[in-house]
Amino acid sequence: MNFSFDFSNKNVLVVGGTSGINRGIAETFAKAGAKVAVVSRSPEKVDDTVQSLKACGAADARGFAADVREVEAIKTGIDAIAADWGKLDVVVSGAAGNFPALAMGMSPNGFRSVIEIDLLGTFHVMQAIYPHLKKPGASIINISAPQAELPMAGQSHVCAAKAGVDMITRTLCLEWGAEGVRINSIIPGPIDNTEGMKRLAPTEKIRAAVVKSVPLQRMGSTDDIAHACLFLASDFASYISGAVIPVDGGWAQGGAAMVGAGLAELLKKSPD
Ligand code: NAP
Ligand code: COA
Repeated sequence: MNFSFDFSNKNVLVVGGTSGINRGIAETFAKAGAKVAVVSRSPEKVDDTVQSLKACGAADARGFAADVREVEAIKTGIDAIAADWGKLDVVVSGAAGNFPALAMGMSPNGFRSVIEIDLLGTFHVMQAIYPHLKKPGASIINISAPQAELPMAGQSHVCAAKAGVDMITRTLCLEWGAEGVRINSIIPGPIDNTEGMKRLAPTEKIRAAVVKSVPLQRMGSTDDIAHACLFLASDFASYISGAVIPVDGGWAQGGAAMVGAGLAELLKKSPD
């Protein structure tokens, strides 16, 4: 593919941008010439990512260590970046926590920790960025998950949290649309070589079953998600807001498709 996006003169913030999918997004915006800042808890991961962003060609690269559960730390760090750079053109919010546990196998604090990181953390980020958004023109992308729409055993905390994240997306689309701020969610499918998949597909058998359940018959890559972010943040997506977009090889359709595939087998065998 020789089509490329130019994000030079754009200021991009990726919250939770120091590993996996979100780091891939940050590095892709860096390759497109943007100024890119990342936030996560680990100062080592932040430093390492900032070095990588520079190597990718970012016009500038920044970062600070903070927990999205700490509203003041998030606000102070974002205020400082905006004071240096001016307005934010693109914000990707994707900090998240996950562990597999049945409802009766997790404490209220276990449930709370995921709600506080994914859902409350998203709210904190939205409040902290609002004063600094370019209006009109800013694009916000919340990183959701299939659990927002598909109930999954062992994921009651994540299902509840990510459903809430998508409702934040849809509500702020109403509240901020008149100012020319677009906000969308991306629902990544199973993305290879990520912490999320390490936790949710810990054995080769589960991994193979996951691959088989994706209509496109492969796991996604971090590039698949990053490219969707480039598009959503670009002027090509200027009429898209409030959308919750699966980038998942058709995974969200997988359950029904699997039933259909079984039926199709049966019908093929039937003489009439
Ligand atoms: P990951 O590598 O663990 O990335 C999570 C990022 O968030 C890291 O940079 C982490 O850095 C940061 N983070 C975690 N807790 C934080 C907190 N309390 N405050 C601030 N930063 C925090 O995970 P991933 O698998 O790539 O997932 C990334 C996103 O995609 C998540 O939103 C996830 O729900 C979503 N997703 C993933 C998949 C998948 O297949 N992996 C599928 C669907 C959706 P620190 O540890 O330094 O804080
Ligand atoms: N099963 C059941 N409960 C679990 C658990 C598991 N596998 N892992 C953690 N918990 C519980 C803990 O026991 C604790 O509850 P308690 O105080 O009642 O004992 C609660 O969750 C919080 O754990 P803690 O380790 O103190 O939280 P933290 O804030 O340091 O970390 C997590 C948050 C648990 C989400 C941690 O896994 C994390 O930091 N994840 C980030 C990376 C990630 O999940 N990436 C994938 C994204 S899709």
